[in-house]
Amino acid sequence: MMLARSFLFGPASRAELHDKILGSGADIVCLDLEDAVPPADKDAARTLAMGWIGGAGADGPLRALRLNPLSTRFGLADLHAVSEVAPDRCALVLPKVDDAAELRIADAALRETGSEARLIALIESARGLRNAYEIAQATPRLAYLLFGAVDLSAELGAELAPEPLLYARARVVHAARSAGIEALDVPCLDFRDLDRVTEETRAARAMGFSGKAAIHPSNVAPINAVFSPTEDEVARARRIVEAYESSASGLAVLDGKLIERPVVRSMQKILDIHSAMAARP
Ligand code: COA
Ligand code: MG
Repeated sequence: MMLARSFLFGPASRAELHDKILGSGADIVCLDLEDAVPPADKDAARTLAMGWIGGAGADGPLRALRLNPLSTRFGLADLHAVSEVAPDRCALVLPKVDDAAELRIADAALRETGSEARLIALIESARGLRNAYEIAQATPRLAYLLFGAVDLSAELGAELAPEPLLYARARVVHAARSAGIEALDVPCLDFRDLDRVTEETRAARAMGFSGKAAIHPSNVAPINAVFSPTEDEVARARRIVEAYESSASGLAVLDGKLIERPVVRSMQKILDIHSAMAARP
């Protein structure tokens, strides 16, 4: 399984960050060609980013690249360039996805060049939020929905805070889970306040997000901590899964409580995260 507890952004235009971001400890590291890069620097940033994404191998964090929206010429140029070099183990983040057709276009471009790169769709527009369910099911190449609060709150006229965006956040989680994929939460913009980062990450986990993005490397450890199962959680998950597997009838009782199938599934997920963490060099 793919670990996706933390997802760190860095501007593609800052070449000195390209190596640093790989060593940040984030499960997914993403160079941005979109909001973090001014129009005058887009072409140079794209050229830089192609070498970085093309250099992805079997080890290390999952490398990702955020393209410009496919409704723009920059975005089309990004997709054209990246589909030529995208290795199988990488991900392309599509921003401001309004509908499922955008994912099918990206999927088709990658299929043409034979790349097995995954896609991540940013839900950050009113239309995208409305179409989140179709977007989540557009292609098996889609690995995650990423919630984008900044653009969305501006479009909704809502305050950029968790509570006014509750409906939107829940809808993204629901759309992702209904398609059998997972949702990742927006970065904390108040990135110097690590208590705030931890608090937001706990709230995200409680809502069903399985990871959270970040814009600064100092946020990676607190985010990973929230999404990493503790030793106790792992031990409990192991007992539950073992009890369930060793019951012939599919009905198991542990410590006087009936173990239900959905619980077994979430316990298995804890064990999968734990093994994926252990397998990391
Ligand atoms: N990825 C990797 N390394 C990063 C980093 C990032 N996103 N942000 C900072 N660093 C490095 C710095 O280069 C510095 O390294 P050094 O100690 O070797 O010099 C160290 O981490 C500390 O950085 P700091 O001085 O605290 O940050 P800053 O003031 O230089 O930069 C930001 C702050 C927000 C401008 C920067 O973190 C950033 O560009 N983040 C990403 C923004 C982005 O991509 N936005 C688009 C998506 S929402
Ligand atoms: Mg944006």
